[in-house]
This record gives sequence, C-alpha cells and structure tokens, in this order.
Amino acid sequence: EIYYNATLYNQTSNISTNYNKLEAAAKLQLRPAAYDYAAGGAGLEKTVATNRAAFDNWQIVPRVMRHILPKRNLTTSIFGKTIPAPIVMAPVGVQKLFHPDGESATASVFRELGLPFTLSTAASTGFADVAKANGDHPRWYQLYWPSDDDLTRSYLKSAKKNGYDVLVVTVDTWDLGWRTRDLDRGFFPFIQGIGVQIGLEDACAHEKLGFNPLSANATAEQKQTASLYHVITTSRGVSPVWENLPKLREAWGEGPILLKGIQSADDARKAIEHGVDGIIVSNHGGRQIDGAIGSLDALYEISKAVKGKITIGFDGGIRSGADIFKAIALGADFVQIGRPVLWGLALEGAQGVRHVMKSLLAEFDLTLGLSGCENVQDLNQSFIVAK
Ligand code: FNR
Repeated sequence: EIYYNATLYNQTSNISTNYNKLEAAAKLQLRPAAYDYAAGGAGLEKTVATNRAAFDNWQIVPRVMRHILPKRNLTTSIFGKTIPAPIVMAPVGVQKLFHPDGESATASVFRELGLPFTLSTAASTGFADVAKANGDHPRWYQLYWPSDDDLTRSYLKSAKKNGYDVLVVTVDTWDLGWRTRDLDRGFFPFIQGIGVQIGLEDACAHEKLGFNPLSANATAEQKQTASLYHVITTSRGVSPVWENLPKLREAWGEGPILLKGIQSADDARKAIEHGVDGIIVSNHGGRQIDGAIGSLDALYEISKAVKGKITIGFDGGIRSGADIFKAIALGADFVQIGRPVLWGLALEGAQGVRHVMKSLLAEFDLTLGLSGCENVQDLNQSFIVAK
C-alpha cells in the first residue's frame, strides 16, 4: 500500500511532515554551497518568492456532504499511460551534491511509487545506472538542447537505448540566470566536477573530449574539464528556436516531446502550432529571471488558452498536497516536484525521498476528499477562488 491518509499515515522517518521544517533540517545537514545552489534563484530571488506567493493568491473552496470513499482515486493518464497520481519528478541536475546515492536513490523511489522520473542532462549519474535503479517503470529524459547536432543526437540515442521514452526539452535555460549565490562561489557544483556524467559517457562526447571522464583512470582535472565542457555545450548562450523543432523531432523519433519553461499563453499556442505533445509551465524554480510572473499565475492564463488542446505540466513552488490540488484545479494535467525531494534526499537518501513523496501524496489525497472530490478528474476551477 503506497498511499496513506492522515489517520493511517505511518511516520517511518524522523523528517518533519512540515515543509518549512524539512528545508530547515536539510539546510543544517548540507554544505552551505550545496544548500545555496538548490535554494537560490536569480538576482534578488523575487521570482522564487513570487512562485510561492502565487499559491496564496488562490484559495480552496471545499464542497461537503458528498459520498466520498475513505481512499480517493488519484489515477491519471498521461500520453496514454496510466500512472497512480498526476505527479512526476522534476528534472534536477547534480543530485550527488545532496547525497552520495544521488539520482539512483530518487529514481528507485519513483519506481516504487510508479511515478515517472525525469533524468536531467546535467545529472551526476549516467543513463544506464539510473535506468537500473528505476527498473521497468516510466522514465523521461530532459534535454538541454546543445547547439552541436552530433551531441544532441548522441544524447537522444543514449536516452532511447536506456528506456527513457518521453523527451522534455528545457527552453528557458539556454544560458544560466544571474544566480548570485552561485556567482559568488564560481558556480560551485560544476567547478567541483560533480555534474555532468551524462552524455559524456557516449562515443560522440568522448571523441570531442579526447578522453573518458567516467573511466577509473580519469583525473580530477579531466572530470572538471568534462563538467565545464558540458555546461558550455548546453548552456551555451544560443537560444533554441521554434524552426529547429522538426530537426529535433527527427532526431528523437517516436515518443512525446514536451517544452519545459513556458510562461506565456502565446508560446503555449505556438507549441500547439509546432506539433509538440505537451508543455511544462515552469520558470525553472525562479532560477533564471528575477522579477518574473509566478508560475501558478502563468498556469491560470495558459490553461484558459490551451486546456484540453495539449498536455499541460506544471512546476514552481509546490510544497504541499494542497499546492498540488490548486495546480491541478487550475488546469495542470500533472505537476512536478523539485526542491522538496532534494531536501528529503539530503537528509536520508532514498528513505528521505520516500517520506517526502508519501507525505505529498497523502496530503493531496486527503485534501481532495475533504474538498468533496473522489477522483483527480473531478477537480476543476470551481474548487478554487482568487483572493
Ligand atoms: C533545477 N531545475 C532543473 N530543470 C531542468 O530542466 N534541468 C535541470 O537540470 C534542472 N536542475 C535543477 C537543479 C536544482 C538544484 C533545482 C532546484 C532546480 C528546475 C526544476 O526542474 C523545476 O523547474 C524547479 O525545481 C521547480 O521549482 P521548485 O518547486 O523546486 O521551487
């Protein structure tokens, strides 16, 4: 049994079920540079704050006296596959910064839960190792679209070969934002050579580097070179453009393509015109532009324009089951979890990720029921009101 409601909730971890306490505990545990890399955002971090404030702009209006079963049905279908809840692991790079088990720990918990795990281009664990931890479960690959077509093709080939069957193309991070906490430290994770094993393990990247950064003989200096090469080829200062999507589609072949980092209704319409299968409404957790629209407010405008015409994912500021409820009610077909999972990972590895995810699932399930819904499909804008 995966999900628990509050009365059945089985606390098997020392980690709090309260997000603020979770983050505070992780902050104490992590090296300051690792904590800052994850917690921080662009500039004065107004967008990080606005992402959260946007949730307070919407309030839940519960319905009562309905026939509600003690356990709700969170089942959702995305791209023709049924998953037990409308929740996906957000692509997050360099997870070994937070725990030595890194992406393998996170992927193994998402396998247990039957929820899709998204592997980042900037991951610190290779395609095959993550696939092994993730087993026979749906998994997605997130691409930072390189300007070098050979490199793009070789990333996509490795992803396909290892069973990643949905492609998430991040379009808002073709250059890194003005992240002051990291700038002050010289982009710590990459300088440490922690990032970036992915893609470099395949032939194309080896040829370009002239050595294998993953071999046992690789020196610390070679690892660092590989790490920087990766950052330069993916966050390269050249924006991806709509006209190149057919080329990407050809390189990817069969399987859904989503664009991650959409914040405007016009761009959402363009995504439909260009034949992509989905969008992820996201501002990269406020890490790219300071003073930008809150991602949940963007979701409201975007779902008005395109709901039902394209699959809509959402991330940015989800910290609780009630937040998941609001995003789905506003029109998201699924949500992605970012920072909360990292804090769980930092504190207790896989066990911490499991605790954080089960807490989110339990609270979402309970909020649905207490608001008078039995299924995720029952949720719509009639359950929320703007403040
Ligand atoms: C990210 N995010 C991200 N996105 C992406 O497409 N590729 C990546 O490699 C990363 N890496 C990454 C690292 C860290 C430390 C963070 C916090 C975030 C963005 C991520 O997918 C998602 O959009 C945000 O995390 C959502 O915001 P919240 O909910 O974490 O605040």
